[in-house]
Amino acid sequence: MHLTTLLLEQFRCDQRQYLELPEQGIRLAGSNATGKTSIVEGIRMLSMMKSARASAERELINWTSNQEYGLPPYSRLQGTVQQSSGTETRIEITLSVDPNRPSHTRKQIKVDGQPRRAIDAVGYLKTVLFEPEDMELVLGSPSVRRRYLDVAISTLDSTYLRLLSQYGKILEQRNGLLRSLRELSRSARQSRTGELDYWDSELINRAAYIVAARQRYIASIGPPLDDAFRALLGEEYELGATYAQSLSDPGHSASSVLGKASIDPLDDQRVVMETLRHELDQRRDEEFARGVTAFGPHRDDVQLLLDDRALESFGSRGQQRMAVVALKLSEVEAVRATTGSPAVLLLDDVLSELDEFRQRRLLRRVSGLGAQVVVTATERSLIDVEPLQDLPMYTVSGGEARLS
Ligand SMILES: Nc1ncnc2c1ncn2[C@@H]1O[C@H](COP(=O)(O)OP(=O)(O)OP(=O)(O)O)[C@@H](O)[C@H]1O
Ligand SMILES: [Mg+2]
Repeated sequence: MHLTTLLLEQFRCDQRQYLELPEQGIRLAGSNATGKTSIVEGIRMLSMMKSARASAERELINWTSNQEYGLPPYSRLQGTVQQSSGTETRIEITLSVDPNRPSHTRKQIKVDGQPRRAIDAVGYLKTVLFEPEDMELVLGSPSVRRRYLDVAISTLDSTYLRLLSQYGKILEQRNGLLRSLRELSRSARQSRTGELDYWDSELINRAAYIVAARQRYIASIGPPLDDAFRALLGEEYELGATYAQSLSDPGHSASSVLGKASIDPLDDQRVVMETLRHELDQRRDEEFARGVTAFGPHRDDVQLLLDDRALESFGSRGQQRMAVVALKLSEVEAVRATTGSPAVLLLDDVLSELDEFRQRRLLRRVSGLGAQVVVTATERSLIDVEPLQDLPMYTVSGGEARLS
């Protein structure tokens, strides 16, 4: 799969930007604050239907959009994707501000001209983004890693995305109920156990799918992750990832079973379901006392291990960085394994953080992936190198990319 055309109108600092992209990708060079990340963010938006950088979608619309005409501000993004099957998909997102409700940004999404909900438009363009902030994947809180997994799996599995969104809502309902039950006497509580039973099974149904999918994903990226890490680092260290469930009784965990990667995903799900039911029984009193759902996919984590030790505590800064790169490259491979063609790889400003030896290794590895690559750098020399020679070089300045 690759992006063949990109149109950004009034998106961030871009007034109007139209790019044609060859199958190999493009290079974007420019000083700070010239608009490189805006282009990458636009591509990512056409893939995920939202931007992870913006806290409100209003931020994405150019500050001066439509000012001169006195019309409501808007922004438009359009991309054409060539699927590996040969068919083309046109994705279009329009953001507009309603003058009667200026704090509200309206988002309209179309795929091949047909209106779609965001949740149904994710995944037509599959991208993997790597940016300096991704170091948080090693150093940040478990929520960062959960979000990473959710995004990676959602692009491959629309059921996952749907169930994840349902899970969030059910969790809120269940927590609300736990809070109100907390106030009641034991006997009064008894009379409402039916209600809780209902939310328990609603929750566990979704949780089992989510946890099993995450465990399968982690198991599937294991070998490419380790392989990429060794190749990038140029040293004999082993990098592993394991899924850590938030269980009070880890001995009862299903992960040991799943480590053997069952052939039937329904089997995986059944095993997780059993584990979660067991956990539910164990923690009922704790949940009443705290008034929150004490375990489940919203509490789980991914552990990254360097020779079986926590990468976060024992890895050098460079090793941690290369581990994140390896994680991203294995994500590109996961898309290839599922769809038959690699994801588009977006490398935003990541080279300057690596030493020259690792820059070369990374770019060689990247060019061997056969993926479309969009790579940015503040220094042209960083991307004016042999493995990227086939990619057209654009100079970005004042929110505009020009072929150079
Ligand atoms: N909604 C917006 N309207 C207009 N300009 C914006 C908007 N949002 C951000 N900008 C500006 O766009 C410019 C380009 O930002 P961008 O992050 O794309 O730069 P960059 O080339 O990636 O820079 P760096 O090398 O520092 O990462 C910045 O000056 C930023 O303040
Ligand atoms: Mg940038």
